[in-house]
Amino acid sequence: MAVLGKNIQQAKKHLEQGELVAIPTETVYGLAGNALDETALAKIFETKNRPFFDPLIVHIASWQQVSLYAKAIPEQARKLADHFWPGPLTLLLEKNRTIPDLATAGLDRVGLRCPNHPLTLELLNQLSFPLAAPSANPFGYVSPTTALHVQQQLGEKLPYILDGGPCNVGIESTVIGWENGNPVVYRQGGISLEQIEPLVGKVNVLSHSTSNPQSPGQLKNHYAPNRKFVLGNLRELSVNASKDRTGVLAFQHKLESIQPATQLVLSPSGNLQEAARNLFTMLRQFDTMDVDVVISEEVPDQGLGRAINDRLRRAAAIK
Ligand code: TXA
Ligand code: MG
Repeated sequence: MAVLGKNIQQAKKHLEQGELVAIPTETVYGLAGNALDETALAKIFETKNRPFFDPLIVHIASWQQVSLYAKAIPEQARKLADHFWPGPLTLLLEKNRTIPDLATAGLDRVGLRCPNHPLTLELLNQLSFPLAAPSANPFGYVSPTTALHVQQQLGEKLPYILDGGPCNVGIESTVIGWENGNPVVYRQGGISLEQIEPLVGKVNVLSHSTSNPQSPGQLKNHYAPNRKFVLGNLRELSVNASKDRTGVLAFQHKLESIQPATQLVLSPSGNLQEAARNLFTMLRQFDTMDVDVVISEEVPDQGLGRAINDRLRRAAAIK
């Protein structure tokens, strides 16, 4: 099993030796390796069983490092980084030759992000290379938001997990890039459209598909828990549901017709930040419950709610 700790020197040592380390960020835990080392990159894909067509996000210590890895940087990118870095926003920028093709799955753009977590920022500041890090879950499963989640699924394949506590935001970064000079969001996440649009104007949002060459991570059946997961109107879904063998993931209120023990509430007060923080942990909890199906409902489709609904819809997509 991986050693779990808060020792930055330990994490640094493993990474410098070309090994992988799980790192905390404000969004989800990442499975990190030297982004400039093709062997380490290959290990990342292998460890999480990720197809090579799905590119990795490269994590850097500050905006100053962007020009080391990207060229033709739009003014809007700088503006967004100015406002939201360190934070849950990934910028897709034209890569230069320093970034190996394996990191970007052969695409011309690299996803760059400066994460907002004190341990990981300190680690990045001490390293002489950036960290490629996808979410530290087996491909297609729910992303990890605690060190324990990582230990449970990838612990046997890793020497070290840097434990930074539970993730504050709880949902992955927003991925944004530019097409013909216009901003396009490829994945909704921790920074909402309402935060972005005042800075760069109207943003085009690409809805996910099963084969989008621009951003393969938009695969429809991502985030899939192991239980059958159905999204809709909770009351209607519960009409024919078994009282004892149905899980319920509700936004604010439990149902009276289902036993309370198999029901989880994202945010009793209706707070979307709290709902985002709870989402992945709760999705995982159902996989340990003795239920046949989990029924759930969308949250208000605004702010962070859009990113939450995106994950819920994908969890519910038929495999
Ligand atoms: O919050 C996050 O972004 C977390 C933490 C660890 O930073 N990382 C994360 O990585 O969610 P991952 O690999 O699970 O999802 C990143 C997605 C990819 O699936 C891909 O769709 C998109 O970001 N992406 C990354 N690089 C890209 C590129 N060069 N072109 C298009 N899409 C890219
Ligand atoms: Mg992921």
